Amino acid sequence: MDFLFAKRMSNLGTEGAFEVLARARALEAQGKQVIHLEIGEPDFDTPANIKEAAYKAMLDGYTHYVPAPGIKEAREAIARYTGGLRGVEVLPEEIIITAGAKPVMYFAITALVEEGEEVIYPNPGYPIYESIINFVGAKSIPLPYLEESNFKPDLDLLKKLITPKTRMLIINTPHNPTGATMSMEELEEIANLVRGKNIWVMADEIYNRIAYGIPTPTPSIFSLPGMKDQTIIIDGFSKIYAMTGWRLGFGVAPKDVIAKMSTLSLNTYSHATAFVQMAGIEAIQGPQEGPAKMVEEFAIRREHFVKALNDIPGVKCVAPQGAFYVFPSFRGYNISSQELATRLLNEAGVAGLTGTAFGIYGQGHLRFSFANSLDNIKIAVEKIGDFLKNL
Ligand SMILES: Cc1ncc(COP(=O)(O)O)c(C=O)c1O
Repeated sequence: MDFLFAKRMSNLGTEGAFEVLARARALEAQGKQVIHLEIGEPDFDTPANIKEAAYKAMLDGYTHYVPAPGIKEAREAIARYTGGLRGVEVLPEEIIITAGAKPVMYFAITALVEEGEEVIYPNPGYPIYESIINFVGAKSIPLPYLEESNFKPDLDLLKKLITPKTRMLIINTPHNPTGATMSMEELEEIANLVRGKNIWVMADEIYNRIAYGIPTPTPSIFSLPGMKDQTIIIDGFSKIYAMTGWRLGFGVAPKDVIAKMSTLSLNTYSHATAFVQMAGIEAIQGPQEGPAKMVEEFAIRREHFVKALNDIPGVKCVAPQGAFYVFPSFRGYNISSQELATRLLNEAGVAGLTGTAFGIYGQGHLRFSFANSLDNIKIAVEKIGDFLKNL
C-alpha cells in the first residue's frame, strides 16, 4: 500500500536517550562492552515496600478501570504531599495522576496553547517540550541555558522574548541536562515577569528532591504569591523512587485545567494503572530511606565525576546542583558533539548523549548520567580522557 503519514507527524521529535540506548544494546549484542551513561534512570531498584504495596493492591482488586484523573485516595495523598513540599494548600481536584510525568507535558500544552501562539522553553532542555510545542502547531521560542552563566537563563533576555503571543513559559529546576537549579530569588524575578498575565508557567520539578549541597525540595515558583493560579507542576515517581518502568507521574494545576487534561487522558490511555497508583501512595507515605540513600550515593559519584572530567585538558564541567547528570563542554577539541558522542560509543564503549539532543544550544557539550556505579564512572572517564588524547 502506498500510504502517507499525517503531516503533523513530521513536527514530532524524539528522545535521544532511548535511541542511543538502542544503539548501545546493538553493540552489546555484537559482544562489545558498553558503559551506559546515556539514559536518565536511577540504577537503584525500586524500594521493596513500594513493590509489596503494588502486589497487595493487585490482590485487593485494584485491577480494574478507575477515574481518568486518578484514584481518589491517591489524588488525596499526592495533594497532601505536594502541599507539604510547597507550603501551599493543594486540593485533590488539582491533581491528575498520569502514566509517567511525560503525559503532563503533552496534556498541558495541548489543552492550553493554540496554534501559532508562543511557548518559551529551556534550550538545552528536555527534548519533549520542543517536540510537543511543534506538534500542536505552536511556535517554540528557545531560552538559552549557557555554561558561561552557570546554565542559568538570562532573565533580561527572557523579558525580551515575552510577547503578546506568549502563552506558556516552561521552566525546569533542577534542570535536565545541566543540573542547574533556580533560587527562590530567581524564580521571584521570573514570577514578576508573568504574574497576572495570560501566560501559563509549566514548572517541571521531577528532580526536586535530588540536589547537592542545597536544601530539598528545591524551590518552586508555585509557592510564590499568586502563582498557584497560573502554574502547572510536573512531578512524578520515576526518578526519586527509582520507578521509571512503572510509569507513574502527576500534574498539579487549577482544577479546570486538570479537568481538560483528564479529558485528554480519557481519550488516550484512560488512566494510570490502578495498582501502580496504590503503590504510589506507599512511596510517598512510607519510609523515605531509599530515596535518601540514593541521593547520598549520587552525591559521591557526582563529586568524583566532576573532578575527573575537569582534570582532562580542554574539558570543562560545571558541578550540577541537582538531578543526576553532568553536562561537560569539550571546547578544547575540534569535534562536534554529535561526532564525539558517536565515536565515544563506537570506539571507547562509553554511551553518552550529544548536547544537541537537548536543543541547538547544547552544541559543544555531552550529557552523561551518573546513574551508574562509581567504578564504572571511573573507567568511563579514563576512556574519555584516553580517547581525547588520541584525537
Ligand atoms: C526533566 C524531565 N521531565 C520529565 C521526565 C519524564 O519522566 P517520566 O519518565 O516520569 O515520564 C524526565 C525524564 O527523563 C525529565 O528528565
